[in-house]
Amino acid sequence: MAWKALSPALLIMAAVAACTPEGAEPEQPENSYQLAEPAHFQRLVLPEGNPLTEAGIELGRRLFYDPILSADSSLSCSGCHLQKLAFTDGRAIAVGLGQRQGRRNSLSLANTAYYFKGLFWDGRVMSLEEQALLPVEDPNELGHDWAAVERALRRHPSYPTLFGEAFGITDTAELTRELAARALAQFERSLISAGARYDQVLRAEAQFTPSEKRGRDIFFDASEELPMGECSHCHTPPLFTDLSYLNNGLDQAAEPEGFPDPGRGAATGQRYDNGRFRAPSLRNVALTAPYMHDGRFKTLEEVIEHYNQGGHYAENVDPKIRQLHLSRQDKADLIAFLQTLTDSSFVNNPKHANPFLQ
Ligand code: HEC
Ligand code: HEC
Repeated sequence: MAWKALSPALLIMAAVAACTPEGAEPEQPENSYQLAEPAHFQRLVLPEGNPLTEAGIELGRRLFYDPILSADSSLSCSGCHLQKLAFTDGRAIAVGLGQRQGRRNSLSLANTAYYFKGLFWDGRVMSLEEQALLPVEDPNELGHDWAAVERALRRHPSYPTLFGEAFGITDTAELTRELAARALAQFERSLISAGARYDQVLRAEAQFTPSEKRGRDIFFDASEELPMGECSHCHTPPLFTDLSYLNNGLDQAAEPEGFPDPGRGAATGQRYDNGRFRAPSLRNVALTAPYMHDGRFKTLEEVIEHYNQGGHYAENVDPKIRQLHLSRQDKADLIAFLQTLTDSSFVNNPKHANPFLQ
């Protein structure tokens, strides 16, 4: 079934596409979007087949905030990824439709465009497009099915037009879950956090306090007079993660089979990967409590105490996890530094906010 509300711009785009000779570079969509890439981040490699457009990002934002994706229209992606908490949910373990407990702590969505070594705590999925298909049919998350979501989107008063503007489709039958996932991925790629005080200091627009500076030196092992925190080996700037999968000593395990959650091991099938999880980004970490894949620590103080004590034994605990001998002052300074990673321009950016409330 075709619908009539086709914009003139779209018709021109479709005509241009039809005239492109075979083998020629495809035209960028007319409304192509230039992401403001932070100068101190690595250059982004965007996937082929899903260029960013204004209309695509805007559609993705609507889908992200729309409970139409859940079985009883009560929950959206944003229910577990709240902008004001840097797109986490403040819970130890996420809670989905019908108050069903999931397995793990919700992850921040800041800077996922740069996560080329996999998504989720265990890296079991490689792309945002692939990831975006999963929550809808996860019984612990949106608990719905895509065929029903597609039907609802096709008969919706505005989505067919919005999909047309984003992807040039001219027939509601072409409105698919794959396009919805592409739009969600585009919105997520636009969620870049690089405006924290840490970044301002880097750009010489602000200065650290003496306490923050001390904390930074402990974090980066930068001063011979201070104990080494070892943090930056795994939480490496500018993303404050090196994106790798590591065991930071949370659980004692005599055997690799002994971890309560196998983590990376379940994704790779390698028993030596059991108990390894992605080193999460520490950007906005003051907003993303509780901490770790299972939300076991409520505060940054508890996290620092864990590292200070050197963690628990397992064969694959990273050698950087060892007793640190931090004083009370060292711990307070480390936390002061971590707080400079909070990006209020990110959590208050109206372009990332709920469009239904604007
Ligand atoms: C019920 C809560 C819940 C809902 C609803 C939900 N998520 Fe999540 N999300 C999580 C949890 C928990 C994780 C971490 C899971 C894991 O690692 O195993 C996560 C992880 C992610 C990640 C990976 C981030 C990273 O750093 O690797 C992305 C991307 C994401 N979610 C996007 C979405 C999108 C898009 C939707 C809506 C279609 C959505 N989520 C709906 C709880 C939720
Ligand atoms: C050997 C690598 C490594 C080192 C060194 C390390 N971390 Fe981590 N960190 C990790 C991993 C891996 C996780 C996730 C573990 C999990 O949930 O199973 C993590 C989790 C965290 C979290 C939780 C973040 C969240 O969103 O849940 C914080 C905070 C943190 N680390 C801070 C630090 C600080 C501060 C230091 C230095 C004192 C440090 N880390 C040293 C690997 C490391």
